Amino acid sequence: MLVTKQKVLRKFWYAVMPIAMLEDGPKPFTLLGENIVVWLKSPGKPAALQDRCCHRTAKLSKGFVENGNIVCGYHGWTFDCAGACVRVPQNADGSVPAGAMVQSYYCEERYGYVWVALEKPLRDIPFFPEETTPGYRRIFQFYERWETSALRMMENSFDNSHFSYVHRGTFGLYDQPKPEKYEINETDYGFEAETLVPIKNVPASYRVTGTTDDTTMRHMFNRWYLPFSRRFGCQYPGSGRHHIIYNCATPIDDGSIMLAQWLYRNDTEEDCAEAELIAWDAPILVEDREILEATDPDACIDVRRKQEFHMASDRPGLIMRRMLLQLLEEHGETEVFRSKD
Ligand code: FES
Ligand code: CO
Repeated sequence: MLVTKQKVLRKFWYAVMPIAMLEDGPKPFTLLGENIVVWLKSPGKPAALQDRCCHRTAKLSKGFVENGNIVCGYHGWTFDCAGACVRVPQNADGSVPAGAMVQSYYCEERYGYVWVALEKPLRDIPFFPEETTPGYRRIFQFYERWETSALRMMENSFDNSHFSYVHRGTFGLYDQPKPEKYEINETDYGFEAETLVPIKNVPASYRVTGTTDDTTMRHMFNRWYLPFSRRFGCQYPGSGRHHIIYNCATPIDDGSIMLAQWLYRNDTEEDCAEAELIAWDAPILVEDREILEATDPDACIDVRRKQEFHMASDRPGLIMRRMLLQLLEEHGETEVFRSKD
């Protein structure tokens, strides 16, 4: 599936960047192949337009913000958050050419991130309850570009078969390659999936009391939010600590994503420092990234095309493919892909 060709994907929210990145001015982003500019129209309130001035096509992200509007850096034409040109500084009478405007997009702040939908969204931004549950802290972990597709990243995060290989250097048990089963319940947003996985033991602050020294049974309660967001949640029964990761694989184009990852913990900085939590997850991400960047980003969602072989543990990914295909069909689309011939 080539995400830039599937129009219905424009009708979902995507996490594009931490809102703190806008404090020193507008920033560019490419979402589903479309160049956008994001800026702060007021404190904490972002806005998004096409990154192309309607005068001589300069990127508006090269400009600056004035009174909540974005000013083109080339000749100063000024646009409001709806994309209307409100000022042409060269025109002494204050006039602007009729119809002068730039495409605007849906744009909101949530969880400290700027979220954008290119067209009227079909669903709300995924709901992360820990954001407003007392006792949790939010930690930004990663914001990085990966050369892979969003579907590959989502599937990988529900793939119980890769730990023993991709993560054999960190938490994976090389001599236990047989994957544990997932319990999956489909929901209106995607699915929830529960599993119990043995992992190599982790640093002391993560450790569950009463386990052996070598392995821990990690209980995971995860969710997939169609199309490209997911929750990874695990709880350490000994300490009662929760380690809940949210990822958004925001599609830049058909072969790259911006991976946003943040973490909620129901403990304190004194219990476990932010830097330590980031340092723990970083090598795991490197391992996933290396292998995902070695795959073909054009993952085929219509399995009848038989482009890939499957095994039992691919079930979460196969449900994703089925639900994505159904989404396309409901909106009168067929899967667009690169010919593999
Ligand atoms: Fe933007 Fe001229 S190109 S004002
Ligand atoms: Co992994």
